[in-house]
Amino acid sequence: MAIDARAAAFLLAAVLALDARAQGSALDEIAKYREALAAGNPAELWEARGEELWKKKRGPSNASLESCDLGKGPGVVKGAYAWLPRYFADAGRVMDLETRLAHCMVTLQGFSAAEATRRPFGSGSSRSDFESLAAWITAESKGVKMDVPMGHPKEQEAYRVGEKIFHFRGGPHDFACATCHGENGKRIRLQDLPNLTERADAQRGYTTWPAYRVSQGELRTFQWRLNDCFRQQRFPELVFGSEASIALTSFLARNAQDGVYAGPAIKR
Ligand code: HEC
Repeated sequence: MAIDARAAAFLLAAVLALDARAQGSALDEIAKYREALAAGNPAELWEARGEELWKKKRGPSNASLESCDLGKGPGVVKGAYAWLPRYFADAGRVMDLETRLAHCMVTLQGFSAAEATRRPFGSGSSRSDFESLAAWITAESKGVKMDVPMGHPKEQEAYRVGEKIFHFRGGPHDFACATCHGENGKRIRLQDLPNLTERADAQRGYTTWPAYRVSQGELRTFQWRLNDCFRQQRFPELVFGSEASIALTSFLARNAQDGVYAGPAIKR
């Protein structure tokens, strides 16, 4: 862990500026840059805090999250993220990682739902427990193949709803997710836009979140990514843990099926 975030940001800015002059794709340079940093991803700081949070007794019930069932049985964290979202019989609905964590904060630790979801995303010194917990839990799925179940009717429904939302056009620009992510070779400024309807791009795009964002000096979850794309699409804010958010996540996670999970990654 020898990486200073500001130095890293500067390095990346320099790489991007050089590339802009060359008018080439920033992708190759970013790939090289990632390789250089892979040995010391600052995401490790969030992972360490997440593991602590998982084990710490907290809330009105003074309990830890250690018996939280992420889908593979109480307390099983290894590989759990690669099997999410999925249907949970005890809640009667499909849940993604964050929704399930919020559920455990309520049922095990005694927080109210509002308290549990108060800070989905952190900024500066006010860290989000979700970002830390997600960093640690996802890291425990590194190297595991995506295996998102579609056996339950509610799982199939979530996928279908997610697919609809992905193609739903609206807002002042009449944009859908598909406008930016439904064709090959699209690009905004220097950023290549993944075609999330195709296996290879969906795998790459999904299995590398959460990610440490160099430009923000923060670890960001997949939920944050979705929120930011809603913003780019000029849509109203996506409600954290909402059915729409879980449906979109189900659609994208399933499209990444069989991809090897590789997060938390480093992104620009
Ligand atoms: C106006 C264009 C635009 C729209 C509309 C849009 N996005 Fe994005 N999306 C982007 C950009 C730009 C990036 C960042 C690419 C980068 O940083 O390399 C991105 C990145 C992503 C990523 C991460 C890909 C990766 O490899 O890290 C996902 C997943 C994603 N978008 C999903 C969505 C979803 C779901 C919607 C619809 C709710 C959506 N996007 C709508 C522009 C858009």
